[in-house]
Amino acid sequence: MASNILIALLVSATVRTSRAQEPPPTNYQLVKNYTGQTFFDDFKFFSDHDPTNGFVKYVDLETANQTGLAGLASSETFENAIYLGVDWWSLNVTPDGRPSTRVESIDTFNHSLWVADIKHMPGGVCGSWPAFWLLGQGAPWPQAGEIDIMEGINTQNVNKMVLHADTGVRVFNVTGAPYSNQTQMRGTLSSLDCSLDTAGNSGCVAEGSWNNFGTDYNAAGGSVVATEFSSDGIKIWNFQRDSIPENIVSGMPDPYDASGVWGPPDAMFVSSGNQTFDKHFFDLKIIFNIALCGDWIEQTWNTSECASLAPTCRDYVANNPTAFKDVYWAIGGVQVYQQANSTCTSTPVPSLSSPTPGSGHARRRRHSRGFRHS
Ligand SMILES: *[C@@H]1O[C@H](CO)[C@@H](O)[C@H](O)[C@H]1NC(C)=O
Ligand SMILES: *[C@@H]1O[C@H](CO)[C@@H](O)[C@H](O)[C@H]1NC(C)=O
Ligand SMILES: *[C@@H]1O[C@H](CO)[C@@H](O)[C@H](O)[C@H]1NC(C)=O
Ligand SMILES: *[C@@H]1O[C@H](CO)[C@@H](O)[C@H](O)[C@H]1NC(C)=O
Ligand SMILES: *[C@@H]1O[C@H](CO)[C@@H](O)[C@H](O)[C@H]1NC(C)=O
Ligand SMILES: *[C@@H]1O[C@H](CO)[C@@H](O)[C@H](O)[C@H]1NC(C)=O
Ligand SMILES: *[C@@H]1O[C@H](CO)[C@@H](O)[C@H](O)[C@H]1NC(C)=O
Ligand SMILES: *[C@@H]1O[C@H](CO)[C@@H](O)[C@H](O)[C@H]1NC(C)=O
Repeated sequence: MASNILIALLVSATVRTSRAQEPPPTNYQLVKNYTGQTFFDDFKFFSDHDPTNGFVKYVDLETANQTGLAGLASSETFENAIYLGVDWWSLNVTPDGRPSTRVESIDTFNHSLWVADIKHMPGGVCGSWPAFWLLGQGAPWPQAGEIDIMEGINTQNVNKMVLHADTGVRVFNVTGAPYSNQTQMRGTLSSLDCSLDTAGNSGCVAEGSWNNFGTDYNAAGGSVVATEFSSDGIKIWNFQRDSIPENIVSGMPDPYDASGVWGPPDAMFVSSGNQTFDKHFFDLKIIFNIALCGDWIEQTWNTSECASLAPTCRDYVANNPTAFKDVYWAIGGVQVYQQANSTCTSTPVPSLSSPTPGSGHARRRRHSRGFRHS
């Protein structure tokens, strides 16, 4: 009798342990599909002063469209991609700087899986500071959190994925103790404190194994970047064109598919504080922007690889328009998925209006070099 009970306890303990090591169940359903012309209905153009003090004049939708800074574009390698660029032809820039674009999603998100198909990014050029990021709303920065999925300056050729958050928000070094499995994350973490308390305000920083940025990234045809925020933490996968998981292509993404096709994430941020991330990252907007110069670049220009080009970043940006011809985002689309609220009932997916096929604007752009509306 007594030994039977003991065996039963041992068995249930074993089962629990192995369950705990299983990946979380996923049942991701599409809640938002940002593609084609409808992208511009769901994103707002930010046209205020650049908060990072860049030498840019962010323009509104109408101006962006009329001057060829935004729209749909095609090239040899992409078709009807969402184009967001900078003015690369004017010699007389505004007092605020060169016209550029910054767009922010109207919807905000908590736990989600964001899948972005990036065909081309605006990096690799001295003076450029592009970013694709998620920014929390409703609290003074950075108390609602910031997730930098792609960000860099000048000719940087490696992407860094960064979290910024409130005091006390820290992450485990998942490539080291207490997580000993090296393959839990492909990259490495170089900073574990996400708060403003870190020297230089670096935030929590992960650098991946394949994380091209700028020129090499574009030469490879960009990538598909998947960012997951769940009760597990925040993970980012960066898939090259030849290794995009089939379940992403088919619109049923599952990071933990039994086949293991996603592999370990490039970045994995797991809270080591006494609170989960849920209190520190919320109501996240999706943002794509292209800053030129700005605090980060200007503080480091003289010691950067770009210093010999001009005495200051602003001089360079003002006087060399054509250097910025390839400084543009071309985005195939961004899909946002969330866990169905119940695994037993099917949750209705919001109906999506189909994009206007082949607008005159898109066709006009099609053969124009560098997408300038002529
Ligand atoms: C830009 O303007 C063209 C022509 O009026 C229109 O067809 C297109 O939808 C506009 N694009 C955006 C992004 O508003
Ligand atoms: C959580 O951590 C913060 C910062 O280290 C500390 O001030 C706070 O007292 C802790 N809260 C609990 C419940 O342990
Ligand atoms: C390490 O992680 C990989 C990928 O998740 C898994 O396949 C492997 O079994 C793990 N190894 C150990 C020793 O836990
Ligand atoms: C995390 O662990 C890796 C592997 O042990 C190590 O190279 C790296 O320096 C560690 N990062 C930090 C911030 O301690
Ligand atoms: C998103 O919308 C585009 C355009 O209608 C469509 O081709 C694509 O299949 C949709 N994606 C998903 C995951 O449903
Ligand atoms: C997201 O989280 C915040 C903070 O917990 C909460 O106020 C908000 O209602 C949540 N949004 C949704 C859509 O659940
Ligand atoms: C960088 O050099 C320029 C020109 O030589 C100078 O005007 C500027 O003050 C320097 N900036 C910094 C941050 O040292
Ligand atoms: C689950 O419920 C929340 C709150 O009602 C909603 O915001 C979210 O979109 C739902 N998820 C799905 C996949 O429908």
